[in-house]
Amino acid sequence: MSSGNMTLEEVRSKAKGKLKGVCMVYKDCDGNPTRFCQGQHYGRPLGFGGIGSGASFHNNWLALRKKKLKMKLVETHFEPDTSFQFFGKELSMPIMGASVTGVNSFGGENVISEREFCQMTVRGCIAAGTIAWRGDTYTYSLENSYGLDAIKEANSGGVKIVKPREQSVIIDFFKKAEEYGVTAVGVDTDGCGSYMMTKHNKPVFKKTSDDIRDLVDSTALPVIIKGIMCVEDGLEAVDAGASAIVVSNHGGRVLDHTPGTADVLPEIVEALKDRKAMIIADGGIRTGYDVLKMLALGANAVLIGRDIVRAAVGGGSEGVRLQMDYLRETLKKGMKMTGCPSLEEISPEILVQ
Ligand SMILES: Cc1cc2nc3c(=O)[nH]c(=O)nc-3n(C[C@H](O)[C@H](O)[C@H](O)COP(=O)(O)O)c2cc1C
Repeated sequence: MSSGNMTLEEVRSKAKGKLKGVCMVYKDCDGNPTRFCQGQHYGRPLGFGGIGSGASFHNNWLALRKKKLKMKLVETHFEPDTSFQFFGKELSMPIMGASVTGVNSFGGENVISEREFCQMTVRGCIAAGTIAWRGDTYTYSLENSYGLDAIKEANSGGVKIVKPREQSVIIDFFKKAEEYGVTAVGVDTDGCGSYMMTKHNKPVFKKTSDDIRDLVDSTALPVIIKGIMCVEDGLEAVDAGASAIVVSNHGGRVLDHTPGTADVLPEIVEALKDRKAMIIADGGIRTGYDVLKMLALGANAVLIGRDIVRAAVGGGSEGVRLQMDYLRETLKKGMKMTGCPSLEEISPEILVQ
């Protein structure tokens, strides 16, 4: 599973070879309409790109690219501190591995099995001082919950996100997660659009605020609602007891033509400013500079999706560690160059038009 003394560039080049027909590992994973992975073909499975035209995937990247950082240097020298508290756990940075599943479909066991992918992601994130979130798809069940198994084996926390299945099934997953020592649990409410779950007879549903409240009441763990793209949903989720929300459009994979997450984040942050909930964001984040922009727009932390897949496929757990270290180092560099000694100093002030 280890890749020895590989560089991140070597990891990515190896991933490109293994992910033939799935991902070209472009320097910019931007969801551009001309990209190989992009634009879902009629009736074909989603693959690694975005749904439909791929506009939502592209908009995530564009929204971040539009934001610019204000360089500010004339002051006393400092080395930035990126350490972050996540529900009582001290992490080396406010960056975690996103709940990504179904990676076994990218070429089968010869490329990577779902079990290996979960183990590599969890271990690699822990080696970088952070944690991985693990998701849910139609191949997962209470008996075969690869993500939970990997979190248990590593014994260092993590997050379990369950698809918006029937309430009783979600609650059973939450119970197992509690027994397995996860840090928090949640639901990707945007997964109610999952074609694959429905096709495989694992029904998924929209959830009401009462449903969310029942889920919160069912567990002692913090509950996270992932897939928030508007103020109304953010308020409903938090007022129903969610401890955190994730501003996310599932990497542009659930609804065509949504805005980029960085474009909707500020209004959601503003609406929730008097509540205590943690606000996490994802979508199109490829470097620590992108992380810095999300934090400047009001996120407390971020998740990394596609880059974790490329890192695990190309370099196993060591590849994931390299990817996460790269993100932390570039975040540090960005904080230093914009005058932010710690995460608390990061504000909209560091962004310029
Ligand atoms: C192949 C793939 C599978 C995913 N599976 C899940 C999942 O099972 N559960 C979930 O909450 N999100 C899932 N996501 C969404 C990610 O958690 C995350 O929101 C998204 O990838 C972030 O965007 P990025 O890939 O541009 O970093 C998936 C994303 C991809 C690319």
